[in-house]
This record gives sequence, structure tokens and C-alpha cells, in this order.
Amino acid sequence: MERTPILETCDLRKVFRAKGKDDIVAVDGASFQIHVGQSVALVGGSGCGKSTTARMLVRLTDATSGRILLHGRDITHTRRRELRTLYDHVQMVFQNPTSSFDPRRTLGHGIAEGLLNRGVSKAEARIATTDLLEQCGLDPSFADHYPGEVSGGQCQRAAIARALAVGPELLICDEATSALDVTVQNLVVRMLGDIQRNRRLALLFICHDLALVQGFCERVMVMQAGRIVEEGPTAGVLAHPQHEYTQRLVLTARA
Ligand SMILES: Nc1ncnc2c1ncn2[C@@H]1O[C@H](COP(=O)(O)OP(=O)(O)O)[C@@H](O)[C@H]1O
Ligand SMILES: [Mg+2]
Repeated sequence: MERTPILETCDLRKVFRAKGKDDIVAVDGASFQIHVGQSVALVGGSGCGKSTTARMLVRLTDATSGRILLHGRDITHTRRRELRTLYDHVQMVFQNPTSSFDPRRTLGHGIAEGLLNRGVSKAEARIATTDLLEQCGLDPSFADHYPGEVSGGQCQRAAIARALAVGPELLICDEATSALDVTVQNLVVRMLGDIQRNRRLALLFICHDLALVQGFCERVMVMQAGRIVEEGPTAGVLAHPQHEYTQRLVLTARA
């Protein structure tokens, strides 16, 4: 692939420093690229730096050093008020779906919000919301529900609809299905796969479960202690893991 990637990181690092405590090197020189329409998994054990990586990509956390490029443009230190452009391209879905919504507002309000903020009319936003809910496997009547009234799986589907509303090129899912029970998790993963292919959406799918990304993400990056220790086509990495840590992950995934 020769085109400029949507997102590229160069030697990205994050060190958490606290008075009287040892420094925590959460991300230790991560370099990777995510191209248009590509689905990439970021896999690794708890505390290896996956969420911190994701949070740096969407500027919820500032990088300590290294660079983040959006279509070749350095956004590592762009000012907060310039972040709208980033969020037009890149959206994120979190593990806890209710965190995406205001508990006092309907799901429909949450989904339409980004569109209304971008100057879309109320009528158009309503049509788009219906369409997005359907794409995410929910009846349009869910627009009138409050986050507290729906199940975790339904709320996560609505959160995905909300993230897709502004038409991002890249969706980052940070353990987005990890809190759901296995059946619901599989359904949401299948739905995400369909959406990814239909929209030619790029996906950065973060999870701790290597088995889940099999047959779902084209490429996988394996993270250990803040470093990407192995990276390649998912099928190849699973069949012939090179790094000792990946080999352990593959064994646990099979168990
Ligand atoms: N805000 C923070 N302050 C201090 N340490 C943090 C903070 N966020 C994460 N960490 C630490 O950084 C490391 C990586 O965490 P995280 O990125 O959440 O890992 P993962 O998502 O892979 O489980 C962990 O040791 C964690 O305790
Ligand atoms: Mg995490």
C-alpha cells in the first residue's frame, strides 16, 4: 500500500510520572500505520499499554514523545480547538457503552449530537439516526430510549452508531465488546465486521483475546510491556507466532 496511511505513529511513548513513585512507561516506542479500509487488531495482556496507545491517538492523553500523523499531518500537539478535524476522521468506542451517553438524554439525542454540531438540520439528523440504528442492528424506536433503559449490548450498538454518525474513516474500539457476554460479543463483532467492509472503514480493534480477532481483523499487532513485539497478517501470526509472548497468547487462545 503506497497511499499515505490514515494514521501513523512514530516511536510513540507515554511515561506516567507521579511524585514519590516510580515512572510507569505505559507505551515504549510504538510505531505503526493504519491504512484506508484496513482492520487491525491490537492485542495484549492487561496493563500492556493498549488503552494508553488508543487515548494518545485521539488526544485524550498527550504523548510524552514520538509523533502521530493524520494523513501525513503531525497532530501530536495540535491545539484542543483544532481537534474537530481529527474527530471527523477518527472516532472511538469504549469498553463501557454508557460512558458515551448523557444518562439524562435519549440515545437518539446522543447519536444526532455530532451531526447537529456540524450544521446538519434536525430533520436530516433524525433520518440519519434511524439509518444508523438500523445498520447497528437496533430498531429505530431505540432513539427514544435512555441509556439506563437498554441492555449493555444494545447500548454498545448505539455507541457504535454514535461513533459512525460523523462518517469517520477510522473507528477505534477499545475493548468495546469485552464487557458483553460471549453470545452478544460475537454478534457485535460480526456486525462490526459487516459495517467495516460495507463502509470501507478502517478499524483498530483493541482486545486482550487473540481468539476473538481471528477471521475478523486482517492484521494484528501484539503488544507487551508497551512495545509492539510482533505484527503481521492475523492468520500468519496465529499459525506461526514468532515472538515468545505471542506464542503464549496463541496457546491461551486455543485453551
Ligand atoms: N492515568 C494513568 N496514570 C498512571 N498510570 C497509568 C494511567 N493510565 C494507565 N496507567 C498505567 O499504564 C500502564 C498501561 O495501562 P493501559 O494502557 O490502561 O493498559 P491496557 O489497556 O493494555 O490494559 C499500566 O501499568 C497502567 O497502570
Ligand atoms: Mg485497556
